Amino acid sequence: MASLPPVPVIHLDPVHPLRVSERYSGADHPMREVTRAVAFEGAWDTARSRDVRGIFDGLAPDWTETRYSPERLLPLIDALDRGGVDGRTVIELGAGTCLMSAELSSRFDRVVAVDLSLEMLRNAVTADAPLVNADAALLPFPAGTADVLVLMNMLLFPAEVDRCLARQGALVWVSSRAEDTPIHLAAGDVVTALAAAGAGDWGGTASRAGEGSWCVLRRSRTDTETGRQAGNG
Ligand SMILES: C[S@@+](CC[C@H](N)C(=O)[O-])C[C@H]1O[C@@H](n2cnc3c(N)ncnc32)[C@H](O)[C@@H]1O
Repeated sequence: MASLPPVPVIHLDPVHPLRVSERYSGADHPMREVTRAVAFEGAWDTARSRDVRGIFDGLAPDWTETRYSPERLLPLIDALDRGGVDGRTVIELGAGTCLMSAELSSRFDRVVAVDLSLEMLRNAVTADAPLVNADAALLPFPAGTADVLVLMNMLLFPAEVDRCLARQGALVWVSSRAEDTPIHLAAGDVVTALAAAGAGDWGGTASRAGEGSWCVLRRSRTDTETGRQAGNG
């Protein structure tokens, strides 16, 4: 079979007003380096997991009060609307205090919220989503469980994203403050990290809304095209 060209990331013009974040977190924020090391080098072990959990356990009590605003949801809403995201089961990785869960529950049949930090989940503002205290590096779900994976300001674990997302599924990647977000990768970096981890070619759409940015990515080749079995890697 002739190989298909990779699907590129198409950058859509914004349709919502853009704003520059007033909370610049600095080019040397330590989570920037962690984000890239995890995505590109798989640099995640028990010590790093414990450290990251400790950081977010500490931030958890004030997370909702300091982070929630309707405007912060705008890039997620734009991604779901213009990224053509549908399906029944959504898993949100790194859900924090579940500030996005109400929006997700209004659109999808089943929303599951996963976070490494038990304190974040203890402070969750949702009654709609089952809460799962787990490490996204090793998710407690069978292969192909999610029609949609939502990651907002969350570390990328490419192999688990590839394993847990259904073959036709969509990865929704959101940065609430675009490049100013400490845990941020550009759309092209997400595609590169997935490919480098052996997850194949991905492509899709990307844009900006409010202070944030987003991309919605899908595999470029489907089961039928590759002969790969559903959920198998
Ligand atoms: C910057 S916060 C974002 C929280 C939420 N998505 C939001 O935007 O309000 C990152 C979240 O990811 C979680 N997290 C970090 N590493 C994780 C991992 N390996 N597995 C699951 N959750 C993780 C943290 O505990 C934290 O709640």
